[in-house]
Amino acid sequence: MGKFVIEESGRLKGRVRISGSKNSVLPIIAATLLTDQTCTIHDVPALTDVVVMQNLIEDFGGTTRWDAGDETLTIAVKNIDKIEASYELCAKMRASFLAAGPVLARMGEVKMSLPGGCAIGSRPVDLHLKGLAALGADIAQEHGYVHAKAKKLTGANIYLDFPSVGATENIMMAAVLAKGQTIIQNCAVEPEIVDLSNFLSSMGAQIRGSGTDTIRINGVDSLSGTSHNIIPDRIEAGTFMIAAAITNGDVEITNTVTDHLKPAMAKLREAGVDITETDEGMRVKGARRRQPIDVKTLPYPGFPTDMQAQFISMLAVTPGTNIVTETVFENRFMHVPELVRMGADIKIDSRSAIIEGVERLTGTQVKATDLRAGASLILAALAATGTTEVHDIYHVDRGYFQFDEKLRGLGAKILRVDG
Ligand code: UD1
Repeated sequence: MGKFVIEESGRLKGRVRISGSKNSVLPIIAATLLTDQTCTIHDVPALTDVVVMQNLIEDFGGTTRWDAGDETLTIAVKNIDKIEASYELCAKMRASFLAAGPVLARMGEVKMSLPGGCAIGSRPVDLHLKGLAALGADIAQEHGYVHAKAKKLTGANIYLDFPSVGATENIMMAAVLAKGQTIIQNCAVEPEIVDLSNFLSSMGAQIRGSGTDTIRINGVDSLSGTSHNIIPDRIEAGTFMIAAAITNGDVEITNTVTDHLKPAMAKLREAGVDITETDEGMRVKGARRRQPIDVKTLPYPGFPTDMQAQFISMLAVTPGTNIVTETVFENRFMHVPELVRMGADIKIDSRSAIIEGVERLTGTQVKATDLRAGASLILAALAATGTTEVHDIYHVDRGYFQFDEKLRGLGAKILRVDG
């Protein structure tokens, strides 16, 4: 288990290029299970989560290859050899469950281990299963596994009780090969849903309405191979925006879609951070004195829960009272006790964190409990006096491609120590 050793780094300066989106590429890799032809995916970040999804494809009988400096992933699943995914791969990453829809649609049967709880809450998959059942699948849950069967899926009207990203993706991937029309209402509208929809459409799927709360899909008999560029990772971009803001730096962030970053940009501007759009992305300049703000996480286009922890780090050193309310996940404040150990003044009251900004944080040993919590501690460490050691950084490697290298390129004093 490695760690990062981080020194107070002064103002970060320079340019950083954002990688392809983790949350886009995971469902898109799962979608390659829908065809026996070859799919080529560009701008794929070689993250450990991506490698788990790649291994899952190989486990089902597909072949995969990295090219072009490891940023292009070519996948061919000529045949699916089995309908059961290995427990080890499912247990490693919740997003493995995204293979359920495609394998069920192509093979008429799938057996996958039920994802367990995780550091940020219980995270059930009931909405995924409700959707697959509505498409005609016979679903049994036994011995920790979900076993779904359907000779032929048939289109249906599905209303999601909550606009779950993963459920919308799983249902879309099943419905593209179902007989007839599927309508998914109150679905997720995240940019990653639109990216998956574009990928499926380029394979020959008939989908309308992605990016709105109602998606209409007309099932087709088969899908073909395709080639696709992954959208830039909006959460990685947002994380570098905070890196610039918290160090009072001046950073140009390239390969971004500013439209996807509106909530984070609005909140940073409200805090006094200067953001200008450039030809290749945006330039973020820290404010000498930031204003306190309130933030509430919501499904897109609301403020992303995946940016909540990083914002809390910045607000911990923003004078005044800041309130951050988490509405998407039930238990997503695991980074707070670690930030308190660094000198932050934060109290949790039910779903809200009340943050009294302090003058400065102080370095110490802290532990990453999940991906974004890890990122938040690294950001805090950049602005904390002395040395901070962030442990359990495998969480960070799941979702940030070359995070330490990119930060060093901006002048951060961060070293990786393998454990
Ligand atoms: C995805 C993202 C994750 C992000 C989250 C919310 C990927 C790989 N991960 O996760 O980074 O934080 O969206 O933006 O894309 N829920 C249910 N029943 C279900 C499904 C979800 O109750 O069947 C609940 C969850 O427990 C959670 C909320 O809905 O409280 C949001 O979950 P969801 O949108 O499904 O997130 P993921 O797809 O797991």
